[in-house]
Amino acid sequence: MDSFIELKKVSVLRGNRKILDDINLNISSSENVAVIGPNGSGKSTFIKLITGKIYPSYTGNGTVCRLFERRRWNIHDLRSMLGIVTNELQYDFYNEITGFEAVLSGFFSSIGISNNHAVTKEMIRKAGDMIDFLDVSSLKDKKIETMSSGEARRFLIARSLVNSPKVLVLDEPSNSLDISSSLKLHNTMRKISDSGTKIILVTHLVSDIIPEMDRFVFFKDGKIFADGKRSEIFTGDRLSSLFDMEVRLDENNGLCWIRAV
Ligand SMILES: Nc1ncnc2c1ncn2[C@@H]1O[C@H](COP(=O)(O)OP(=O)(O)O)[C@@H](O)[C@H]1O
Ligand SMILES: [Mg+2]
Repeated sequence: MDSFIELKKVSVLRGNRKILDDINLNISSSENVAVIGPNGSGKSTFIKLITGKIYPSYTGNGTVCRLFERRRWNIHDLRSMLGIVTNELQYDFYNEITGFEAVLSGFFSSIGISNNHAVTKEMIRKAGDMIDFLDVSSLKDKKIETMSSGEARRFLIARSLVNSPKVLVLDEPSNSLDISSSLKLHNTMRKISDSGTKIILVTHLVSDIIPEMDRFVFFKDGKIFADGKRSEIFTGDRLSSLFDMEVRLDENNGLCWIRAV
């Protein structure tokens, strides 16, 4: 198996609280996975763990935390395997950086471009291709801080793709997007999945789910509450127990939504 993450007996402690509690999970780099859970269930902490930003709070006693089969990573090397887009990332670029520069700096894992970056023609070409792929060419000279959330998010996704990562991790990507931007994002995720990069989509919104998601992992109170194939897990009953309220799940034309019943 082409392993992306291997977690055994992983817990993350903050203060005296376990915000991730005994996580056991394997994800290969050939599956699209939706990670769903209520606010505060530990999803973003899980992302920090699977992107090498934090480590488990305990080691020993059988604890395993490997990314792409390695225990430790140089963050720079990891970036060529793994793209990450979080909402906080957008604010890092609020410094006169244009959309194009934000994408180009993805090659260096930096925030913008400076004189000591050896930018090649190939990098410029690839950055342009990714901007086209995200359908935002007309905005490339605009500063990130002057863009709408939806526009900025598209540039950050383009940035995360310049190194052709095996896996793209998206944390609540439709946060603060209006309905039309959310739909565009939906189509973008489908295109990315078609292009061969696998997506780990972390969300509390069922409407973010694309048909290409084949596995679902539910988080609740820092624990894995359910994990399995779409047909087994992604049902109204399972979502009702996840969110502690009775909901109905509807799907039509590749779009999903839930409502209280
Ligand atoms: N660095 C931290 N210190 C203390 N508590 C934290 C820290 N990070 C997250 N938490 C808490 O852990 C819980 C899970 O947080 P988070 O992973 O952000 O959840 P989610 O992304 O599912 O909303 C929340 O109750 C949050 O307040
Ligand atoms: Mg979160």
